[in-house]
Amino acid sequence: MQSSCAEIQAQVSDRVLEISIQRPERKNALNMAMYSAMAVLLRDAATDPGVRAVIVTGCDGAFTSGNDLTDFLGGSASGEDSPVFQFMRALYEFPKPVVAAVSGVAVGIGTTLLLHCDLAIADEHAVFQMPFVNLGLCPEYASSYLLPRIMGHAKASELLLLGRKFDAQTAANVNILNEVVYSGETLARAREYARELAAKAPEAVRLTKKLLRQGIHARGLEFIREEAGHFQQRLQSEEFREAATAFMEKRPADFSKFD
Ligand code: COA
Repeated sequence: MQSSCAEIQAQVSDRVLEISIQRPERKNALNMAMYSAMAVLLRDAATDPGVRAVIVTGCDGAFTSGNDLTDFLGGSASGEDSPVFQFMRALYEFPKPVVAAVSGVAVGIGTTLLLHCDLAIADEHAVFQMPFVNLGLCPEYASSYLLPRIMGHAKASELLLLGRKFDAQTAANVNILNEVVYSGETLARAREYARELAAKAPEAVRLTKKLLRQGIHARGLEFIREEAGHFQQRLQSEEFREAATAFMEKRPADFSKFD
């Protein structure tokens, strides 16, 4: 299986497709070409009998730092026809098990995509963050719907409103992760899980995944759409412009002039 972009690598072994994000100089920030490449790989893998499970992973210091802020400042869309939405939808609807292997930073969609994987493993030094409010944005990828259900309202509010970084143990405690492993062992553990899944009866696995997700499926997509509409508008806001410019200029954002 071939990726359409150099920063997204794909390889299949033992019926497991490994999608690896490789843009270390930008902490694996995802640009439009990378989203498109991952969407195509997932759509192809969905119907490829040679793939029974998928691993999504990053490089050593980064799972992903989320959306490329330069792309967003440049006006890249996140509406329904955008590569971001295509990727979200492809993962959301993916019928086979997906295992996430997280090392380093998992920011923005780096955290929210874990809500759409079936198993998530992280190394003990991984760092998570959903900094949407800090950026003048709003939650995405159904996180405002799923997080309160996964961890309760209080914790979801804390993580989404304050937007602080949190560590792997906290992520496991609030049910975002299945397991925290020693540094350097994440991918090996994810491969163990994925190969175990790939050796099982494929139809039984797909049906079980479908049944497990059916409770959130319809509402989840509604939320993905609603949040994406707000997110798209927020990208045009002065609040986002200030936050993203501040990040590029390596200074704290100043929201004091906004009503
Ligand atoms: N978009 C664009 N560029 C990014 C980026 C992103 N999401 N995340 C990191 N980068 C760039 C940095 O600007 C920096 O570029 P430089 O070398 O030209 O200065 C480079 O990648 C390395 O990042 P740096 O900030 O030096 O690494 P760090 O280890 O100190 O911090 C993060 C890592 C992920 C915590 C920090 O980069 C960060 O907060 N990034 C923004 C995350 C974000 O807001 N994502 C969008 C969510 S919607």
